[in-house]
Amino acid sequence: MTEMLPVTNAATDAAPAAKKPALPDAQTVTQVKHWTDRLFSFRVTRPQTLRFRSGEFVMIGLLGDNGKPLLRAYSIASPAWDDELEFYSIKVQDGPLTSKLQHIQAGDQIILRPKPVGTLVHDALLPGKRIWFFATGTGFAPFASLLREPETYENYDEVVITHTCREVAELEYGRQLIEDLKQDELMIELIGEENLAKIRYYPTTTREESPRMGRITDLLKNGTVFKDLGIDPINPDTDRGMVCGSLDFNKDIKTILEDFGLREGANSEPKEFVVEKAFVG
Ligand code: A2P
Repeated sequence: MTEMLPVTNAATDAAPAAKKPALPDAQTVTQVKHWTDRLFSFRVTRPQTLRFRSGEFVMIGLLGDNGKPLLRAYSIASPAWDDELEFYSIKVQDGPLTSKLQHIQAGDQIILRPKPVGTLVHDALLPGKRIWFFATGTGFAPFASLLREPETYENYDEVVITHTCREVAELEYGRQLIEDLKQDELMIELIGEENLAKIRYYPTTTREESPRMGRITDLLKNGTVFKDLGIDPINPDTDRGMVCGSLDFNKDIKTILEDFGLREGANSEPKEFVVEKAFVG
């Protein structure tokens, strides 16, 4: 919100000054979309100097009531080549940041610390044939970036994205993104139709009726996912994984992947899968 970032010369030069970043790390909101009463996404201007790898996160926030920055880690949901930055957020009604952040509108400013980091990057995985993206809730965000990243398709023959949410409406951001991706002319030109055909989207819900019900963890353990997709089970020779969800989810998927023989990697030591926790404000 504009009133949260002091505009130094607001009294003398109100209208143009209100648009100008007042803090070194201020960025302007360009678009906001509310998906449910618990979820929204927004786009902001990108600092010219910001370089990041698709899948990484940055600290973003607003000025708190005490005048100090109130920042949380957010995965960048847009790909590294995009002119703007996109974020996908939960709304927590009594959350210190998201109780305020959920009210931002185009033209408002947020704080963005331009220091991207994270483990959900291609460099942290050994070469493979099939990549699995496992997400719950807003954990979809880094995969929204990686699904729009040409390198994902250069590296793999198949891209499986699983997304587990409580309700159908919570899948909508991801569902629409994947549908648009396959129809958008820019994306088709950039990534290629044959590459976009590598995407296997596997959404599930746990608390509302939908075509695929259940936690992805259970569906992996009982083999339903492989049967549904008509593919071989996960194999350390061919499969790679990236995981982003709640702490419990990350822990459970990690165990499952390890049971399939995959090992957790890192930027400094690439292996077969990597894990990031979902960041909520
Ligand atoms: P469930 O409804 O069975 O708890 P949340 O909204 O709490 O962040 O959860 C998002 C989705 O992730 C829900 O569908 C939830 O299922 C699922 N989920 C939560 N924890 C786990 C876990 N440890 N393993 C698999 N799925 C999980």
